Amino acid sequence: MQTKFLLPESQIPTHWYNVIADLPAPPAPVLHPGTLKPVTPADMLPLFPGAILEQEMSGERWIRIPEEVREVLAQWRPTPLFRAHRLEKALGTPAKIYYKYEGVSPAGSHKLNTAVPQAFYNKQEGIKRIATETGAGQWGTAMSYACKMYGLECTVYMVKVSFQQKPYRKSMMQLWGANVIASPSNQTDSGRAMLAKDPGNQGSLGLAISEAVEDAVKREDTHYALGSVLNHVCLHQTVIGLEAKEQLRMAGDYPDVVIGCHGGGSNFAGIGFPFVADKAAGKKVRILAMEPTSCPTLTKGVYAFDYGDTAKMAPVMKMYTLGHDFMPPGIHAGGLRYHGSSALVSQLLHHGIIEAKAVGQIGCFEAAIQFAQTEGIIPAPESSHAIRGAIDEALLARQEGKERTILFNLSGHGHVDMQAYDDYLAGKLQDYEYPAEKVKESLAHLPKVNL
Ligand SMILES: Cc1ncc(COP(=O)(O)O)c(C=O)c1O
Repeated sequence: MQTKFLLPESQIPTHWYNVIADLPAPPAPVLHPGTLKPVTPADMLPLFPGAILEQEMSGERWIRIPEEVREVLAQWRPTPLFRAHRLEKALGTPAKIYYKYEGVSPAGSHKLNTAVPQAFYNKQEGIKRIATETGAGQWGTAMSYACKMYGLECTVYMVKVSFQQKPYRKSMMQLWGANVIASPSNQTDSGRAMLAKDPGNQGSLGLAISEAVEDAVKREDTHYALGSVLNHVCLHQTVIGLEAKEQLRMAGDYPDVVIGCHGGGSNFAGIGFPFVADKAAGKKVRILAMEPTSCPTLTKGVYAFDYGDTAKMAPVMKMYTLGHDFMPPGIHAGGLRYHGSSALVSQLLHHGIIEAKAVGQIGCFEAAIQFAQTEGIIPAPESSHAIRGAIDEALLARQEGKERTILFNLSGHGHVDMQAYDDYLAGKLQDYEYPAEKVKESLAHLPKVNL
């Protein structure tokens, strides 16, 4: 009855897995938001280092992880794989449930897996400073810590409402040396324009992205960094699934279903993409993305070209989208409130290689609490969507009287999200299904692309 499956540091993966090599068709081009024509590396060089752009466009199946990155990852990787014996017992299921726990990273989530290589490649190219945005605060904390590891300055534009409501996330970033600015701010043209129009504006992720991009474009010594969606971010997260495969081998198991929660797609890609490789090689495995009913990108969105941000400054990608001016309601899993999805996750869904399911937040908090009361770990509200998916699969196995092996990614802990749990316990939370007519409204503003 082994509970933890641990790998030595020597088994931190030496290469990232690039799912592009196993796609059934080449990915759609990424378009310039101004011209709606394919972007060139020159368009992106003011924002990202060359090595990252190469990874963004690479078709190589395996991409080497620099030793200097593996050394920093070694602080918390390989992360543990747990068998959820007590949760299985509480559910009375014949299913075996395994979870990969990414909350052991210093910043408390999977986001550090990409923050570290992004900071490394920027440092290598002589960049001195990173500008980025954060919504719920997880990405900002990860980037602040990664910058500190490589001696880079870090400026984080934090959505004003989170800046006010999540003081401890802000403190974590400041403690790791970052300059945290509430967005909209008076530091950028986009921030000033918004404040002139609406002085009490509480900010949005779209606007914070615009501020960070503008900051990076205007300074020679500064680059921009993004915490999800892009190909290189998904690539860096594949250490999760690659390790999990080794750990399951130790356990003598292989999953019937692999589950991750879905915001922009990066932790789902991390756990799921290495199994896409197996599927491409003929193995039978389901790969399931769990998203909130209040932001149902994969289950109610359309597969089309759309802008990555509200201000139309980010590249246009072919993805499942609810429309770039979609205004998600204030659900507690703030990290899942993105209108779009990774182009790679979207393409896999379009080809039927992966599946997606939407769940309400009440069911997710119920699952999170059952998990905390059996396995001990208090999950991030985002991760609770994956737990809901795993519990539902386990209950189905009980109903069908069938064995089934379930693997899910526990993307982070919820220690800095206790307000969400307080609100749930006080009965203040409600389920919300984003209305179909609102989705239709936002979709009317998709860019008209002629390639
Ligand atoms: C703990 C956690 N899980 C999941 C997500 C969703 O992001 P992604 O879909 O890129 O993994 C976030 C985003 O902030 C997060 O903080």
